[in-house]
Order: sequence, then structure tokens, then C-alpha cells
Amino acid sequence: MTSPLVQLDRVRFGYSDRDILTDVSLTVARGQVVAIMGGSGSGKTTLLRLIGGQVKAQSGSVMVDGEDVGMLSEGPMYNMRRKLGMLFQFGALFTDLSVYDNVAFPLRERTNLPETVIRDLVLMKLQAVGLRGAHTLMPFELSGGMARRVALARAIALDPMLMMYDEPFTGLDPISLSTIGQLVRELNDALGAASIIVTHDVTESLAMVDYVYFLSGGRVVGQGTPDEIRASSEPFIKQFINGERDGPLPFHKPAPDYALDLGLAHD
Ligand SMILES: Nc1ncnc2c1ncn2[C@@H]1O[C@H](COP(=O)(O)OP(=O)(O)O)[C@@H](O)[C@H]1O
Ligand SMILES: [Mg+2]
Repeated sequence: MTSPLVQLDRVRFGYSDRDILTDVSLTVARGQVVAIMGGSGSGKTTLLRLIGGQVKAQSGSVMVDGEDVGMLSEGPMYNMRRKLGMLFQFGALFTDLSVYDNVAFPLRERTNLPETVIRDLVLMKLQAVGLRGAHTLMPFELSGGMARRVALARAIALDPMLMMYDEPFTGLDPISLSTIGQLVRELNDALGAASIIVTHDVTESLAMVDYVYFLSGGRVVGQGTPDEIRASSEPFIKQFINGERDGPLPFHKPAPDYALDLGLAHD
């Protein structure tokens, strides 16, 4: 049996005096796409930052690919981060770089590959998101959905073993949203990676993930496969699934990504 790619064991983390995560344990197996759901401010982004080693757990452990991320010194941490792909919540493209140069950026920054090889890799990544034909365009010429797909191509440029997506659906129309959802799944399976997707979008994520964790009050308050989640009678889970305002979780409407919305042209 191989060890899980990501394993959090009784993690506690807070900023100064305030605890954000009090006791979080979760597992992501290789090949899996796992969703993390929870209200605004429940610590979802913080969880990704713990896995990426940007912040350290105050107790408990965060294991990634067999290594305790909280214990890594600078060199090993750098090597670890090279294996992670991250699509940030408001991770926009570099507006003054073309689609091609946006995707080439991490390859130029993190490798010594010659431009001819970089060109092949960039076109392959753009092909994977269906946008090879758009490589000469500038970000302002893209729709919101296309921009998100280019960001996806950039995030997978270095063939990460773990992809982390922070609210990748925010601000997208239903069709683009569904396209991104399918892409997240396809890219995961094509890369032989694992993926963690932080999202508010229940319908979309239940359609493409293997497992779901619900976060509230600094803890995992529910978990299961999509089928288990749909059949659950847990109040937290039902509230989330049905989009009810009243229930154990406070109601927060996710904010659309205006920065991206305002910068877009039509397909
Ligand atoms: N750098 C920081 N310093 C202090 N508090 C922070 C910082 N980053 C986030 N927080 C707080 O931690 C809580 C969890 O944040 P976050 O992980 O971003 O939640 P989510 O992604 O679920 O909306 C929020 O209350 C937020 O205000
Ligand atoms: Mg967040």
C-alpha cells in the first residue's frame, strides 16, 4: 500500500491570538480529486497554505509525499514546492504578457530548458486546456472562462504531483464553470496527480470529485464520497447541499471575481 500523498493529522493553526483551524485531519490519496468546502473565513485558503508550506501548523503534522512540510528547511521546501501547482483564489494572469508568455513563465523561472523545449511544453499545456490557438492573444482579449483556462495551463506547466485550486469557479458563467470542472478532473487524471479543490460550488464539485471534506469552526464537520454527501442527513451537509440560508453554518455569499470579470472581452 502506498502512503497518501497528503495527510493532515490533528492540525492546529491560528494567526496571533485567534485559532483558525483547531483540529483538522484529512487525507488525499494519489489520483484523487478532493473538495474542501466551508463558509467564508472557515480556513480553506489557510489549509492550502499549510499544505504549500507558506504557514506552519502550531501542532499536529502536515505530510506531503512522505515529508513533514512543517519540518522542511529552505532547500527541501523549495524542491517540495516545485512539485505543487497552485491556482490561487484571485490568481490572475500577468496582464502585460501574452497567453504564451504567461504559460512559459514558470518554465523560464524554474527550469533551464531551452526555448525550443519550452515552446513545445507551452503548446502542449495550452492544447490540454483547448487554447493552443489562442497563444498569441493578450489577457484582455480573453473571456473570463478562457483566462481561467490559461491560468490552469500555467499552473500545470511544471507537471505538479499535487494541484491545489482555490475557488477556481468563482465569477464564471455556468458553461465555463462546467468546462473548468471537467478540466480539473481530466488534468488530474492525465498528470497522474492528486488535486485539492476549495470551492463553494456544490453541484459542480460533486460531479467531478472523489471525496469531500466540510470545514466549519476549525474542524472537519463532515466528509464522504459524493454519493454519501448527497444521501447525508447531517445538518451541516444538508445546509450546504441545499443552499439553505438558515442552518448551522452562517450564510455567506461568495464574492465574484470582479478583477477578472471587468477585464474580459467576449469569446
Ligand atoms: N495573514 C492573516 N493574518 C491574520 N488573519 C488572517 C490572515 N489570513 C487569513 N486570516 C483570517 O483567517 C480566517 C480564515 O481565512 P481563510 O483561510 O482565508 O478562509 P477561507 O478561505 O475559508 O475564506 C479569516 O477569518 C481570515 O480573516
Ligand atoms: Mg479563501
